[in-house]
Amino acid sequence: MKSYFTRKIMAWNEGENTRKMPWKGEKDPYKIWLSEIILQQTRVEQGWSYYLKFIENFPTIDQLAKSPPEKVFKLWEGLGYYSRCRNLIATAQFIHTHYKDMFPTSHADVLALKGVGAYTAAAIVSFAYNQSYAVVDGNVQRVLSRFFGIETPVDSAKGKALYAALAQELLPAGRAGIYNQALMDFGAVVCKPQNPLCNNCPLRKKCIAFSESKVAILPVKEKKIKRSQRWFYYLVLRHKDTVYIRQRTGKDIWQHLYEFVLTEQPKKLPLEKLMRSPVCEIYFKNGTVSSVSEEYKQQLTHQTIHGQFIEIEIPYGFVPGDAFEKVKWKDLDRFAFPKLILTYLKEKNVNLS
Ligand code: ADE
Repeated sequence: MKSYFTRKIMAWNEGENTRKMPWKGEKDPYKIWLSEIILQQTRVEQGWSYYLKFIENFPTIDQLAKSPPEKVFKLWEGLGYYSRCRNLIATAQFIHTHYKDMFPTSHADVLALKGVGAYTAAAIVSFAYNQSYAVVDGNVQRVLSRFFGIETPVDSAKGKALYAALAQELLPAGRAGIYNQALMDFGAVVCKPQNPLCNNCPLRKKCIAFSESKVAILPVKEKKIKRSQRWFYYLVLRHKDTVYIRQRTGKDIWQHLYEFVLTEQPKKLPLEKLMRSPVCEIYFKNGTVSSVSEEYKQQLTHQTIHGQFIEIEIPYGFVPGDAFEKVKWKDLDRFAFPKLILTYLKEKNVNLS
């Protein structure tokens, strides 16, 4: 079973795999690392243009390390999970100073980098140096779970250990890099989460899920994600062609990104109630509401953010607080915003690069 599996994956890769991606076959560990950080919580189609933008702006790690963080955040804008971007900057600076811009080569050193977990470390050392470490991501777990008919939940401690050990056993000697990429591609192209191509699958003869009609129920997950709900009301305080924004600080989501005056509420509030709330009252009293947006929504892994934007024209000299900067609407493209705000700005036709 095991040697059949590996043989068939390699044969599929050589004969039928036409998947192309800009980082495929890349040997520069810096570029591999960059692509893997971008792809950690992002679909390939979405990550593609970001990867190209990053290597164009920062062809080498020292250029990334020396860049003003604001520029890196601006390029990351729209990708989400901004802790990845903070770790990216920190790790580039670390490699710049501690390793003199030479990406580490040992698995242990790579794994010790900020933002690099077991999956990413295996991807880097196998793709760049062909070291024998198996990558185990959602794609790989799905393929293994179906082919070997494993019903242990992938998100249980037992499941994680089991899949990691099995994946490692399946690695062909001396071909880890090619095989790892092939297996991920196979999971993305053939053994897909929805509507897998079982009828054309070269592994179907020995696939347990196929013969036992369990393709649709595998892999099994133990936990369902629970999301908390948050309501963000943004007061877009404008004065003619200017608007007030500030950078988010603190440990919450979207650290370092920009926003308007924000009040968070524990539930959805009608505008009349919002106008009387302690934070907002002063703005509504001193300004004139010029528009109220529809409700926008952004899904994060563990929370759903509901956002609404209330534009208020405020008189000259009225400043919301020290943390705020007064900027021209046309200059908003210099700042990085969360996706929720970007969507709103795009619908208002604010010029954004
Ligand atoms: N997802 C994460 N890394 C990937 C890679 N190298 N190829 C395709 N999908 C990926």
